[in-house]
Amino acid sequence: MKILVLPGDGIGKEVTAQAVKVLDTVIGKQLAVELTEAPIGVAGVDAAGDPLPTETLELARKADAILFGAVGIPGDEQLPYAQRPGASLLRLRKDLGLFANFRPAFLFPELIGASTLKPEVIEGLDLMILRELTGDLYFGEPRGIRTTPEGERQGFNTMVYSESEVERIAHVAFRTARERRKKVCSVDKANVLEAMQLWRTVMTRVGAEYPDVELTHLFVDAASMMLMRAPKQFDVMVTGNVFGDILSDCAAMLTGSIGMLPSASLALGRKGLYEPVHGSAPDIAGKNIANPLASILSLAMMLRYSFDRADLADRIHRAVSKVMTDGYRTADIFQPGMKKIGTAEMGDAVVEALGRISG
Ligand code: IPM
Ligand code: MG
Repeated sequence: MKILVLPGDGIGKEVTAQAVKVLDTVIGKQLAVELTEAPIGVAGVDAAGDPLPTETLELARKADAILFGAVGIPGDEQLPYAQRPGASLLRLRKDLGLFANFRPAFLFPELIGASTLKPEVIEGLDLMILRELTGDLYFGEPRGIRTTPEGERQGFNTMVYSESEVERIAHVAFRTARERRKKVCSVDKANVLEAMQLWRTVMTRVGAEYPDVELTHLFVDAASMMLMRAPKQFDVMVTGNVFGDILSDCAAMLTGSIGMLPSASLALGRKGLYEPVHGSAPDIAGKNIANPLASILSLAMMLRYSFDRADLADRIHRAVSKVMTDGYRTADIFQPGMKKIGTAEMGDAVVEALGRISG
């Protein structure tokens, strides 16, 4: 198992260190793991003048799985695309063909009070947002900022999806639903955008190949409302890159904190990049207060998807549940009566809980 660790910027470094601690504990002597760490984001710029240094990209191409922290710094968007720490992640996703982004939103029962939504709305919540990750406005050409003949500056991007791109993510959605509650909701904006009209047509056609899976469609505005109003109706929600970016943050908040949510970005085959849904959070970086559980749960996804070790992934989940039951909380999920701890202590608590779990 070749695992590449890319801690990146801000809280990325702190939370990833906790996941590595958990990895060391959970694998023990069971698996042969080769861990390599490489610079990305600001560290990449410092090391090689590029947020995604060639050497890091080479290592990423060779790795079986990547554990990613976060990239991005304040003012990121002011820099040219190629020098932007935040854009290094987009280049990595595209280069490695990581088109299928799994963003589960599930609720640890102990955290039901930490959500801003009423308990009855979210109790038992377990949905999977499947976001297409290598197309759409994010990568569509042409793009840029131009000057019109009248001398006004104009920014422009292109929303584009080819049939094969939609087909590919559709199959992933239906197969994923088969392992779950057999429901797919495809989210688009087919009433306004041609790119999304094609999206819906292709989803419907591929859906016919999976008669055992129920397919519904929602426009993205209605879907965002439904996520707040009655989120438990959803099983797999499949959507494009832009809508998926937005909806997955909404879904994350249903569970109380974005600090709890892991993600997996998969290519065809078993290769994957695993990262917390949250970003680099520069405002709380270096303070040992960030929640490392999203990174730790991303590691669990890696063991499940890239290394076929559902047993180890389940152990990590049980350990996290134990820590929750014991009342340990980082600041983002803290409630009165609980024990507030820091990033490193949360990592230690999970390691300690693993020791109490057999098998
Ligand atoms: C995400 C992030 C990224 C995205 C940023 C950091 C480029 O928001 O993974 O959701 O927009 O995809
Ligand atoms: Mg996002």
